[in-house]
Amino acid sequence: MQSKFSRTLVTAALPYANGPIHLGHLAGAYLPADIYVRYLRLKGEDVIFICGSDEHGVPITITADKEGVTPQQIVDRYHKMNKESFEKFGMSFDNYSRTSLPVHHQTGQEFFLEFYRQKLLLEKSEKQLFCEKDRMFLADRYVEGTCPVCGNLDARGDQCEKCGTWLEQTQLIDPKCKICGSTPVVKETKHWYFPLGRFQAELEKFVDSKKWKDNVRSYVDSWLKEGLADRAVTRDLHWGIPVPLQGYENKVLYVWFEAVLGYISSTKELSQKRGDPNLWKRYWQSDGASDGETRYIAFIGKDNIVFHTLIFPAMLMAWNQGGKSRYILPDAVPANEFLNFEGKKFSKSRGWGIDLKDFIEVFPSDTLRYALALNLPESRDSDFYWKDFQARVNNELADTLGNFINRTLQFTQRYYDGKVPERGTLSQLDRWVIGEMENAPKKVGELFEAFKFRDGVVEAMSLARAANKYFNDSEPWKTRKDNPVQCATTINICAQLTRSLAVLLSPVIPYAAETIWKMLRLDGTAAATRWESAGEMKVEAASAIGHLDILFTKIEDSTIEEQIKKTASGEAPAQQPSAPATAPIKSEITIDDFRKVDLRVARVVNCEKVPKSEKLLRIEVQIGDQKRQIVAGISKHYKPEDLVGKNVIVVANLAPAKLMGLESNGMLLAASSEDGKLSVLTTVADIDSGSIVR
Ligand code: MF3
Ligand code: ZN
Repeated sequence: MQSKFSRTLVTAALPYANGPIHLGHLAGAYLPADIYVRYLRLKGEDVIFICGSDEHGVPITITADKEGVTPQQIVDRYHKMNKESFEKFGMSFDNYSRTSLPVHHQTGQEFFLEFYRQKLLLEKSEKQLFCEKDRMFLADRYVEGTCPVCGNLDARGDQCEKCGTWLEQTQLIDPKCKICGSTPVVKETKHWYFPLGRFQAELEKFVDSKKWKDNVRSYVDSWLKEGLADRAVTRDLHWGIPVPLQGYENKVLYVWFEAVLGYISSTKELSQKRGDPNLWKRYWQSDGASDGETRYIAFIGKDNIVFHTLIFPAMLMAWNQGGKSRYILPDAVPANEFLNFEGKKFSKSRGWGIDLKDFIEVFPSDTLRYALALNLPESRDSDFYWKDFQARVNNELADTLGNFINRTLQFTQRYYDGKVPERGTLSQLDRWVIGEMENAPKKVGELFEAFKFRDGVVEAMSLARAANKYFNDSEPWKTRKDNPVQCATTINICAQLTRSLAVLLSPVIPYAAETIWKMLRLDGTAAATRWESAGEMKVEAASAIGHLDILFTKIEDSTIEEQIKKTASGEAPAQQPSAPATAPIKSEITIDDFRKVDLRVARVVNCEKVPKSEKLLRIEVQIGDQKRQIVAGISKHYKPEDLVGKNVIVVANLAPAKLMGLESNGMLLAASSEDGKLSVLTTVADIDSGSIVR
């Protein structure tokens, strides 16, 4: 390839350790990155492939809150899960790190402090929403409200998902704290800002110097045209990399500020693992080095484009101007668009779609890799359809590729005693197919190098089609009797084609490629051979072949119907537990925490339905010598007369709240089960109202 570069650094977006990887992620970034890296390795390039879990950010803390566990427990679970499914899927990362590691925290703080030292960062006071009950600023998604642009009731603090508008949380109409539901107040807080706008000119020059894919370029151009604004790089949050400055003890670095640096720290971790302390510098800072440069390719999905084409490069430019060392900038950012599932967006909550983990429990990784590769959203959104998957596996992998290889090897087994026969003089037909084979590595390689993986795989498969046609047209089952030399020649060439296909397709179907390698009893592995050798006749005559394996089995209609029912019927989550699961127990509290809650026995003296409300009851209670009004959402479960005269348990020191315009002074305790039953707590024996519950 281009001789200017002696090394290639490839990164794939660090997925959030906040849920399982699904097919959309694979098609967006991971599969193309892996095909590319596997191809470069075959080309003999010096390449490293870097990834890891993105373990910070608000969504992770919200998941933890919901489950009543710590963020650490969430990221531990999904880091392990995703790392394992990536491995099974055949992702050939050199390192899969985590942003919670010390090496990453150090790297994040080092960049922040360098920008601080350069006086680049701006400190600004801003108005933010603060929940007085939870005593915290509500970062990003901790607040929900009505979108001021489209009126969507569930807009998030940072963006309205319905109309796509990016919002300041103070613009939300009727904002609500996502933890407790109460209305937050506006309060001043201080944050550090990175002056992205100052890098506008340099970024424009940088972008112009690159040949980026059209879809990427058009996003970048629209941001540049809009003009780049200062961006806050700190957050009021407890989970993340602490801001290393006095007075900022309760703040962390914004997840996007540090996550992109995770590529660097993951490479540092690889350095440590390999006992080569300078390894990471060779890849990240080789700009202008005497032995040539590193080329840096960042694979991502389209929602990450701005961070990789503008923000991360600006951060590296900012570092470089400090004069300490020089980082290289991304040479290409081959972002893909989105993959949909059976015509709709993947949606975990609606049970629409399938996770990688579940997929590869049913089907071999290679089948998914192949089907996705031919369906990559390289220039526009694409769709995964089960029927299409089945057709690709059955017609292309099994009937075209598998069948050709099977016929070749079986013929060798049966009529040549398992040894590849010798070639004689070549016929025109022989020369035609050899020509196809000789041209294939260059054709496929050029497409891969241009990030056209779909076309590259189509091109490689067209050699399999040519091979099938060659086998048919050569009619070895006839020539075996009337022209044995021609028959031997045909089978020899078919063995060459088999090897060639293993090499050409090994970036896409690495497991099958190695199976083919073993069946041909070739030395080493398909992955460790030379790409160019796919155009050469390397299988020696008289070499013995090994035990024959089935490469691909066809997928039955019933199997596909079952998957459609499970993943694309839109009703239930993919795996529905047979009995309602017990809600997870929240994290531990101390007795002092518990004692803050003042629980009392209260006598219901009066009760009525709240007009125009389906759920609410207005309840008057007596707590010792106090009368109180409590509004409770239990009208679907109790009639007013069921409750009058009963002793109930209430939280007596809860701050008042307004529900449908009515003041509620306290909260009534009730048990509710996952399947929607509800029972109000009362006392077994009669006892005075106002009694303390402990
Ligand atoms: N975690 C982000 C996502 O899943 C991607 C982060 S890419 C990185 O969308 F560069 F920041 F690491
Ligand atoms: Zn709150």
